[in-house]
Amino acid sequence: MIRLAILGTGSMAQQHADRLKEIAGVRLVACCDVDQARVHAFAQHNTIPHAYTDVAALLAAGGLDAVTIVAADAAHKDLAVRAARHGLHILCEKPLAANAAEANAMVQAVRAAKVVNLVNFSYRASAALYKARDLVAAGALGELRHVEASYLQGWLTRAVWHTKQPISPGALWRMSAAQSKGDLGDLGVHILDFMTFVAGAPCEIACHTTSLPKGLPGNKYKGVLLDANDSFVASLRFANGALGVVHSSRWATGPNNSIRLRVYGTAGALVVDLDSAWHTLQACCGKDVPAGRWRTLRCAKVPSIYQRFIRSVRTGTPGTPDFADGWRIQVYLDACLAAAARGRAVRV
Ligand SMILES: NC(=O)c1ccc[n+]([C@@H]2O[C@H](COP(=O)([O-])OP(=O)(O)OC[C@H]3O[C@@H](n4cnc5c(N)ncnc54)[C@H](O)[C@@H]3O)[C@@H](O)[C@H]2O)c1
Repeated sequence: MIRLAILGTGSMAQQHADRLKEIAGVRLVACCDVDQARVHAFAQHNTIPHAYTDVAALLAAGGLDAVTIVAADAAHKDLAVRAARHGLHILCEKPLAANAAEANAMVQAVRAAKVVNLVNFSYRASAALYKARDLVAAGALGELRHVEASYLQGWLTRAVWHTKQPISPGALWRMSAAQSKGDLGDLGVHILDFMTFVAGAPCEIACHTTSLPKGLPGNKYKGVLLDANDSFVASLRFANGALGVVHSSRWATGPNNSIRLRVYGTAGALVVDLDSAWHTLQACCGKDVPAGRWRTLRCAKVPSIYQRFIRSVRTGTPGTPDFADGWRIQVYLDACLAAAARGRAVRV
């Protein structure tokens, strides 16, 4: 039996609870949130015996093997370092931390404690992504020439200033530069992982970000300045001279959750489009290139991050994506913000 606690009991925590409860041999024994009403409601709804508002008390009580960290981004580092010091295995939500320095401290803490550590880049649940990575690694596309990746949501077009509905606490901290990395930390982190998992690491990043007015007095809501970036557009240079473009936005009217990756090489191309399919991809490689014939490749399903986490805890073997992967993406996020602030490309 693996005894597990959920740290942070806002909206995403219910997905953690639902997915973990489906796995045989997992017991949710505790949860923690700084919001007392929320943590008690969550414990009651999920029949979790122990609810805490202070993580120190939860850790001191013992009786745990692992935690999942689903608190707001700014709290990840402190919770993870404390959990690691108590020898607990950790599945942490993305973005791993507020910046690369904090992410690095988390990597050091889990390495010192020798605990399983995974970060929830959710779209790694797409089997098509693994197939794309394998095709590129096997040389089926030849040498990398060009990459394009995008992640588009439209929730800012449906938000409070149009509907007069209250802004949820989870949306509010996501719109504050003091409390989050905005769209970059929310959607950018996913698409940067998605793209670099297949195409590899860039050596240079240029970036523009924008934060558009929300139509509220002083651009504030309940005293919180809504100044986090809403969209970013980045161009990447790879070591062989190839270029890539990656962008995301919360202002993409209409589409709810659109993720697309296109990779072009000297010998072929591939497209992963999660709007169409998570477990197939389109490829045009080798002898199909002159004829421009695209084929649909079916891919074997991959286990969910929750299944991979529990398997790693049971077997004591490392899994992916781990905290080091989370740190690497955090370096790209910091580079995007630095490039946007300086108005020129930065080396990574
Ligand atoms: N992987 C994904 O696709 C995905 C999707 C949604 C959210 N997320 C991530 O999950 C996390 C939670 O997002 P959400 O949408 O549930 O936000 P939310 O605001 O609904 O919930 C966050 C909760 O964290 C709590 N919290 C803040 N500081 C805390 C602390 N020190 N200790 C304990 N609890 C604390 C808040 O009180 C709140 O209840 C974020 O990191 C977010 O980026 C990931």
